[in-house]
Amino acid sequence: MAPIIEMRNVTKVFGGPIGSPKATVALDDFSFAVDSDFPHIITIAGESGSGKTTMMMLILAFYEPSAGQILYNGKDIWKKMSRQETMDYRRNVQAVFQDPFAVYNPFYKVDNLLSIPIKNFRLARTKDETQALMESALRRVGLRPEETLGRYPHQLSGGQRQRIAVARALILQPKLLIADEPVSMVDASLRATLLQHIRDMNQELRIPILYITHDLTTAYHVSDYIVVLYRGGVMEAGDVERVIRDPKHPYTQLLVNSIPWPDPNHLWGEAAEAKRAGTAVLAGCRFADRCPHAFDLCWKEKPELYRTNGSQVAACFLYQSNDKLERKDLGTLFIKK
Ligand SMILES: Nc1ncnc2c1ncn2[C@@H]1O[C@H](COP(=O)(O)OP(=O)(O)OP(=O)(O)O)[C@@H](O)[C@H]1O
Ligand SMILES: [Mg+2]
Repeated sequence: MAPIIEMRNVTKVFGGPIGSPKATVALDDFSFAVDSDFPHIITIAGESGSGKTTMMMLILAFYEPSAGQILYNGKDIWKKMSRQETMDYRRNVQAVFQDPFAVYNPFYKVDNLLSIPIKNFRLARTKDETQALMESALRRVGLRPEETLGRYPHQLSGGQRQRIAVARALILQPKLLIADEPVSMVDASLRATLLQHIRDMNQELRIPILYITHDLTTAYHVSDYIVVLYRGGVMEAGDVERVIRDPKHPYTQLLVNSIPWPDPNHLWGEAAEAKRAGTAVLAGCRFADRCPHAFDLCWKEKPELYRTNGSQVAACFLYQSNDKLERKDLGTLFIKK
């Protein structure tokens, strides 16, 4: 396995040092890997505040981990990288942000947004080549270049901005794309189309994609694997078909049962509000206070990841007699064809 990105026992706390009472643990001892030899779509799912965006910001080096390491092609991104390595990393790991409007310079037209990366990474030699690259990227996400190129971000709808963000990421032909709720502002009819574009890109260009969402239905349709996060920790992970059709963790069961399947727009987690506020580090299972199966041990110890079958694990003592998957090896779950 030669992961392009690897997270090793990464913890991120905000608002104070690890262990301080005021600190929010956004991600807790999280290990993960994406292998470019197996360009799958992996969903990172979880309700609001579960740590999804934090995970992405860590991979992009926008946040520094409080503990643990993040490796790009085997190199720690917080240790000194050469200029070439930094350029390579910046180009090859692309992201679509949850609120793409917030990250764009409002004084730049779409032309600029798309041509700047082309220039910075020297992807075209002439103006015509630049134009052709921009147009094909826009068409790929279902936008008409003549209607979008001359506009400013505020002259576009939320859904159009999200598609432009996908187009921009595509131009660089990255080796990993991370998309944080990329279709949240796109209407239902277009959502399926844009997700299909993302899926096509994954297949044709063989780019692994991290699809971050709290919408379990789109996760089911678009991805190969899923990691279910709850309050910064992995609850369940594995083959998406198995996890959603036959969830093993009581938390995933709760979520899956709360999806009214005929309505593809339902955002899951709505029926499952956290009772306990805050995200302090807890002694036992982070789901114990809501779990119908909780017993003594669940309040005392953090469960390991137990295998529930060959391609699925659950962090739950109900399965403690099964084989363990070391937390640090979670990434190995996603490398099968
Ligand atoms: N910059 C920050 N400063 C302080 N706390 C933060 C910061 N970013 C995130 N958090 C906290 O970390 C936790 C995880 O937040 P995160 O944004 O990763 O959640 P999320 O899963 O992306 O949620 P959503 O689905 O609402 O986007 C939350 O409790 C959040 O309040
Ligand atoms: Mg988020």
